[in-house]
Amino acid sequence: MECRIEEAIKTIKMNDRGGFTVPTNRLYPYQWNWDSGFTALGIWHFNKWRAWLEIMALLDAQWEDGMVPHIVFRQNDPDYFPGPGVWQTNTEPASSGHSQPPVLASMILRMVQNGTAYDMRKAREVFPRLMAYHRWFASARDPQGTGVIGIIHPWESGRDNCPDWDIGMNAITVPGDLIAYKRRDTSHVDSDQRPTQEQYDRFITIVQFARETGWDHRRIHAEGPFLMADPGVQFIFLRATRDLLTLAEMLDMTEAISELRRLIEQVSKGSDWLWNDKVGGYCARDIRTGVFSDAITNASMLCFYGDVGSPEQRASMAAHCRRILAACQFGMPSWDPEHADFEPRRYWRGPVWAIMNHMLITGLADAGEEMLAQRITSDTQKLIESQGMAEYFDPMEGTGLGGMDFSWTAAIYLDHCRDRVAELLKETG
Ligand code: GLC
Repeated sequence: MECRIEEAIKTIKMNDRGGFTVPTNRLYPYQWNWDSGFTALGIWHFNKWRAWLEIMALLDAQWEDGMVPHIVFRQNDPDYFPGPGVWQTNTEPASSGHSQPPVLASMILRMVQNGTAYDMRKAREVFPRLMAYHRWFASARDPQGTGVIGIIHPWESGRDNCPDWDIGMNAITVPGDLIAYKRRDTSHVDSDQRPTQEQYDRFITIVQFARETGWDHRRIHAEGPFLMADPGVQFIFLRATRDLLTLAEMLDMTEAISELRRLIEQVSKGSDWLWNDKVGGYCARDIRTGVFSDAITNASMLCFYGDVGSPEQRASMAAHCRRILAACQFGMPSWDPEHADFEPRRYWRGPVWAIMNHMLITGLADAGEEMLAQRITSDTQKLIESQGMAEYFDPMEGTGLGGMDFSWTAAIYLDHCRDRVAELLKETG
C-alpha cells in the first residue's frame, strides 16, 4: 500500500481558503462545522497554529445563543445551494440555521492531551465558547430536559440522507408555495450517489418553516416539520460533554464541573430511549411519534464512543458489529448491509466514512473491543491508501466515491499515521 501522508497534507492545504478549510473544492465551498473539527485535528499534526485558527474561525460564527452553525458562509458562491439567501439567518458572518454533530470539544481534548502549554492556553481561550455550545444543545435540542437530544433537520445529524430519517421525512408535507430552487450538487457528482429530488424538497421545506419563525429554536423544536433522535448526535454529544468535563478538570474550571456532570448523567439516562428491543440495538427514533428506525448504522455503533448501555446491551451491539463486518469487505458501512434498504454507493445509505470510523475506533478501543477496533482501523487505512482522499467508500468493492480531495478524509489519515507524520516532519525540518 502506498503511503499518502504528503498527499493528505497537500489536500488540506489545497482546500485552505485563508484561515478556514473547505471540505473539498467546488462541491462544498464553505466552512462546515464537524468537517472543521476533524480537519483541525489533522492539521494539528503538521501545523498547530493553523489548527487552532481553524477552530477560532468556526467559533467566530457562533451565535449569541451559543449555537455553532453547520455552515459558515464567508463568501458568496452562486455554485452552491442552499446558500445564505435561502437560510436567511441574518447573522454576521452569514451562516446556516442549525448545527451539526458537536465533535469540537472531543477534537480539542485530543490536541490538548497530546500537546503542550500552548494547546492548554488555546483551550482555555475557547473553553467558555464550548460551554455555551453545549448549553445550547442541552436547552434548544432538549428543552424539557429528558436527556434525549433532538435534531430538527436530517442535515443536523451530518448523515444527510440516511434511511433513518425516512420516518420523519415521509411525514413532511411539502407546501404548495415551496421556494423555487435549483440544486447544484448533482452537477458535480453522479445523481445516483446523491439524495433524490423528493428528499431534497423535504429538506427545503424544513428550512422554509424555520426561517419563517425567524430561526426561533424553541418553536422549531416544538412545532417544526421534523424532530428525531439520532444515535449519532446523542452519543457524540455525550462523548463531547465528557471530554469537555476532562478539559474543565485539566484547566481547573471548577464552576463548570458540576454542571457538566449533571448534563452527562441526564444524557446517559436519555440514551436508553433510543434502544430498540426489536433490533437489539440503538436506533434513530421519531421524538413525536416514538416510531423507531429498524436498522443498525455506523451511528448506532457509536454507543461505545458515548459509553452507554448495560453489559447485555453492549454485548448485543458488539455482536451486531461482528455480523456487519463479516458481511462486507470494508467496515463500517453507514447502513446494515443485511437490511433491504442497503445501497453501497449512495451517500449515507451504505458507504463507509473515515470520520465515523475514527470515532468508532476510539469507542471500541475504550470499551476493550480491540479486535473490532483493529479491523476498522485496518479497513480505513486500506481504503484511503488504495483510493486516496475520497469523500466516502463502497463497503463491498472499496471504491472511492463522492467528491475527491476531501479534507476530513485526509485529516483522519494524518491522525492515524501521526507517528509517521512526526518522523517525516523531523526529517524535513
Ligand atoms: C455532506 C455530509 C455532511 C458534511 C458535508 C460537508 O452534507 O453529509 O456530513 O458535513 O457534506 O462535507
